[in-house]
Amino acid sequence: DMDLFTYDPGYTSTGSCKSAITYIDGDEGVLLHRGYPIEEIAEHGDFLEAAFLILKGELPNDAQRTKFVTDISRHSMLNEQISFFFRGFRRDSHPMAVMCGVVGAMAAFYHDSININDPHQRMVASYRLIAKMPTVVSWTYKYAMGQPFVYPRNDLDYASNFLHMMFATPCEPYKVNPTLARAMDRILILHADHEQNASTSTVRLAGSSGANPFACIAAGIASLWGPAHGGANEAVLAMLHEIGSKERIPEFLKRAKDKNDSFRLMGFGHRVYKNYDPRAKIMQRTCHEVLDELGIKDEPLLELAMELERIALSDEYFIERKLFPNVDFYSGIIFRAMGIPTQMFTSLFALARTVGWIAQWNEMLTDPEQKIGRPRQLYVGSPPRHYLPLHQRG
Ligand code: SDX
Repeated sequence: DMDLFTYDPGYTSTGSCKSAITYIDGDEGVLLHRGYPIEEIAEHGDFLEAAFLILKGELPNDAQRTKFVTDISRHSMLNEQISFFFRGFRRDSHPMAVMCGVVGAMAAFYHDSININDPHQRMVASYRLIAKMPTVVSWTYKYAMGQPFVYPRNDLDYASNFLHMMFATPCEPYKVNPTLARAMDRILILHADHEQNASTSTVRLAGSSGANPFACIAAGIASLWGPAHGGANEAVLAMLHEIGSKERIPEFLKRAKDKNDSFRLMGFGHRVYKNYDPRAKIMQRTCHEVLDELGIKDEPLLELAMELERIALSDEYFIERKLFPNVDFYSGIIFRAMGIPTQMFTSLFALARTVGWIAQWNEMLTDPEQKIGRPRQLYVGSPPRHYLPLHQRG
């Protein structure tokens, strides 16, 4: 069988597609979307502009930008029936569990955008997913809090509208802090796409069979949930709490290096980056900005994280294996400072990554070389044998 295919667990050396969306140079720590460095997109752009770029290949001109923002905001509401679907969950459900369900269920609501062979329907589905995700994520929070759902406000920008739906209540006016909205927007940009990571590959694989876009994105959400992938941002905070104080860092580093211990440093290491993740650098800077804005001095978790990074990066084990902080290492500290509960961190990653998933899904469906994804295997089971009647079995 090995003559017919390559055995490559984890696809460490398999290129599964051609893509023009994102370029990573893992040795240099470079990340480009459509050729633009992530640093420049994060500094000069906003999330919807980045979404347009990732989806369509070019930065929008003024008219295109206005139209895109209008088109997206027109899709920000959820069908009212979906609010009843939310109400079927336990209040203490994990937001990612609710998202898998709600996003998958969208295929049962938006019948006019599930024909994947119609480019117009594909575009409408893409806009719907990008537009509705902040509503879905914020409603998981409102539901968990026992508060009424807050409806989107289309006069607000994407990140501000999200914060509004999270924190406004019917009885109190809520004014979005522009510095926090800008920080949130930048965090969303940093998560928007990352070529063929596990969840994006999952979306492509699901989509390769011709499944509808809502089902494919639900599959992406499921894959992102794991702690080795997007779930790491939640796991980092749990880890920092568990470590508790700087004095205990060496003890945990020792455990992370021990192959007989399942503990790993969450937010560290990457399949592609063998250098600092450029997103982690921007994230760390944003973290300081947010804490300054909120007047939080000496945040013990940030100090602990920075000390952990410092000690790990001077340790032979991490140097040899080129293990650096990744995108998930600092994001949680920022979310926490903004008042977002730890359980919600991964759903924010999903919100942002919806742009990349949907862009990659569209790219796949318009690729003339596209085929159903169907890896092979090395069979290691029993040789052929005959079925025994029940009384003859041992
Ligand atoms: C994301 O792929 C993407 O692009 C993902 C992402 C995106 O934007 O989509 O960037 C988002 O998922 C970030 C990663 C979040 N995950 C974590 O932070 C969890 C902790 N990290 C690891 O589980 C791990 O580093 C992975 C999953 C990120 C990468 O795994 P690989 O590529 O399979 O590497 P590996 O596990 O084979 O590690 C190589 C070596 C091993 O040691 P040796 O067997 O060679 O001695 O490095 C060690 C590993 O044990 N190692 C770690 C470690 N990560 C790797 N040791 C301690 N702590 C760690 N975190």
